[in-house]
Formats: sequence, C-alpha cells, structure tokens
Amino acid sequence: MREGLTINERGSLVFGGWDVSELSERFGTPLYVLSEEAVRGRCAQIRESFLRRWENVSAVYAGKAFLTLAMCRIVQFEGLGLDLVSGGELYVARSAGFPLKNAFLHGNGKTVEELSTALSAGVGRIVVDGLSELEALEEAAASAKKRADILLRVSPGVDPRTHRHIITGHAGSKFGFPAAGDLLGEAVERAMSSDRVRLRGFHFHIGSQIFENDSHVMSVEILTDLMAGFRRDLGLVTEELNMGGGFGVDFSLEGRTPRIEEFTDPMMSCLEESCRSHGMDRPHVTIEPGRWIVSEAGITLYSVQTVKRVGDMTYAAVDGGMADNPRPSLYGAKYRAVAAGRMNDDPTETVTLAGKCCESGDILVEGMRTPPLERGDLVAVLNTGAYNFSMASNYNRLPRPAVVLASEGRADVIVARQSYEDLLLGESIPDHLA
Ligand code: LLP
Repeated sequence: MREGLTINERGSLVFGGWDVSELSERFGTPLYVLSEEAVRGRCAQIRESFLRRWENVSAVYAGKAFLTLAMCRIVQFEGLGLDLVSGGELYVARSAGFPLKNAFLHGNGKTVEELSTALSAGVGRIVVDGLSELEALEEAAASAKKRADILLRVSPGVDPRTHRHIITGHAGSKFGFPAAGDLLGEAVERAMSSDRVRLRGFHFHIGSQIFENDSHVMSVEILTDLMAGFRRDLGLVTEELNMGGGFGVDFSLEGRTPRIEEFTDPMMSCLEESCRSHGMDRPHVTIEPGRWIVSEAGITLYSVQTVKRVGDMTYAAVDGGMADNPRPSLYGAKYRAVAAGRMNDDPTETVTLAGKCCESGDILVEGMRTPPLERGDLVAVLNTGAYNFSMASNYNRLPRPAVVLASEGRADVIVARQSYEDLLLGESIPDHLA
C-alpha cells in the first residue's frame, strides 16, 4: 500500500488519521477528504530538499490544483507563496488573508479588472502573457499610480511526454511569448522602457504530469540562452526565473512519486552550469508545483449504489462521478480505487467503477480489483486531491461534495456540501414566465 494509507483492525482504510468509514458516516458521501499531514509533508519536502538545498530560491503552490480558504492558510503556514490564475482565485487568497506579495498572477486572458485588482491588492508578480496585455497593464498601473513587477511568460517550444491537453510550452501554444521569433524581444524592449512596469525576469511552465526531466532541463537551457542574449543586446539583467510546475505524480497502487529534488536538482544544476558558461549570475528561482503537493493528499469517498453484471463486465455505480472528478473522461486519467471498508477481503472480482452522470463516458475506474461489491459499500478513489474539487461541476445538477480536512484527532468541513437550494443561487424566473 502507498505511503499515507494504512488498514486498521476492522479492515478499514485509514487516511488522514481517520478510519474513512467513520468520516463517511459523519459527513456523508460523496466526500472529498484532504489529509493535512500529507499536504504539509509535501511542503516540508520542498523546504528541505529545494529551499534549503539551494540559495536564492522560492516555491509557490499552484492554487488551480485545489484552492480554498483553509488551503491558503496551510500554504501560508508552510512558508510557500501562491500561483493564482484568475480574479476568483485572487479573491479566495485575499479573503483568506494571504500575503499577496508572495503571489504570482498568471493567465493568458487576464481582464483589465483582474489586472487592476492584482495591482491594488499588492500581488507580488504579474506574469505577462502577451503584448496587448502588457499595454493594458501599463494603463492599469498608470491609473493606479503604481509600477507593476512583472515576468514575461516564455513558451520554450518543447514537447514533454504527457497528455496533449496538458502541454503548455510547445511551439504554437496559446501561452506566453514564443522563445523563437521577435515577439519576446519586442516585449522585453517595451517593458524595459516603460515606467509603469519593472521587468524582473521570465517564466515558463511547459505542462503538467511530467515525469521525464529532459523537457524541463531543455527549457532551462533555452531560457538561459535567451537571458544571455537579452543581456548582451539590451543590457537586461534577469533577476528572476520562474520555472513553473508540472512535476508528475504516480497514480498506481504500489508506485512511488518522485521526490521534489528528482525534478528540481537537474534543472538547478543545468541553470547554474549554463549561467556560469554565459558568465551571468544565476537569477532567483521560483518553482510552482500544484499536483505534486496536493494530489496524493486527497481521496474521494463514494457509496456504491447499483451493482450489475452486463455480459462479462461488472459495473458498480457510485453516488458521484464526472461532476466531482472529470479527469478520467477529460484526459483518460487512470485512478485507483479500493473497497475502503473491506480492505482485508480477497480481491476476487474485476469491476468497472461507474459514475452516476448521464454519459457512457462517466467511468471513474476501469479494472478495479476488489472483493465483490454490494449496494452501500464504501469505495475510496485515491489521489484525487488535485484538479478534482477545483474542476468540479454541477452537471446533472449534482450538488458538489463537501471537503473535509482530516488530521489525527480532528476532521473539519472546510467546504460545505452544496444543498439543492445552493443549486438555485442566482436563478430567477422572468416576469413573462411567471
Ligand atoms: N504554473 C502554471 C503557470 C500552470 O499553468 C500550472 C498548471 C502549474 C504551475 C501547476 O502545474 P502542476 O504542478 O499542478 O502540474 N487540469 C489538468 C492540469 C492543468 C494544469 C494547468 N496548469 C489536469 O487535471 O491534469
């Protein structure tokens, strides 16, 4: 069994310090459970194996993976900054009292309102994604009488081996300024001559769920060459380089997710080496992992509803599905599930765990090895901490599950289960239909 998962004397899965059957009885299903210890453990690993190992570096958590008020607090207490990508995420961080000077605002379609709010809220860095955004930001900064600290996002033109929907730094990407061509140089010159922005450096993020390091390392080389070129041609001293996130997480039952330094050491060594060979000081480095911090810290509990045999298949349908976890249907993500109340029973069956949404594609797990399942059995889908709650929808008007933050001796609801009334929030019937 994976680190962080154990089985108690009743044969129940223990996660986040709790017999998960107890959590399901107390809070109902479907239920997202987040282990505080697991999140903090990952943050500690970042501190020990990245922040302490290298000088002049920082780490931010990519909030798009999972962002709530309580998560902002954990991230703050653990000494990480935040990567925010919308006015909504900024609102959450601000409402949690997060020190926004430690935040980056990303996004390829930032509105003027988002830019102005980021300026007035004191967001530390705005990562500019295009020339027209740079112009809009200069205007917003002029009206706010501020000067924005910015990075320019560069798309290095590399192609990591991951699902095509989650690569972002390839040639032709919608994100950032292509490393090849004149656009980036134009943006650098414009930013350097502006009295409304201060160009601190560059950012790249090449995609998500990446295990091979070649593309990350290659991107570092490409960026270092660019920095050297801008220094030579324009006299720009790059103070900061944000190397993004994208560090992969192992979803198998017995597997192991690489430690943070397995990703960051090769990038840092390459950066130091390349800077040395160009005769440049190495800039301050930031990393911004999302999934790597929170994915394995979360599980989703479901109750089995209908079990049926169709030909040689056995389907077990649960009380949630693609509305709370769209990743299998969007990306073909392969999750693992366990019969959480019967962990010691022999897994004699192979079951397809089906979601309850009105789509044949709403299959949460294929090939689940399990003891025979019955209506009412508790199932835990593992590794759902990242991009589940944050990507959940109300498809089929399913209320969003609650999120419980679990740790030894306490379990707190950090996001309440939506009610049917919540589903009608903001709806009205116009007069002519009354
Ligand atoms: N930094 C930037 C600028 C990003 O765009 C992202 C993710 C990250 C950091 C964090 O990446 P991570 O370490 O979590 O891989 N919904 C997809 C993932 C999309 C990721 C988008 N950007 C999924 O469920 O697989």
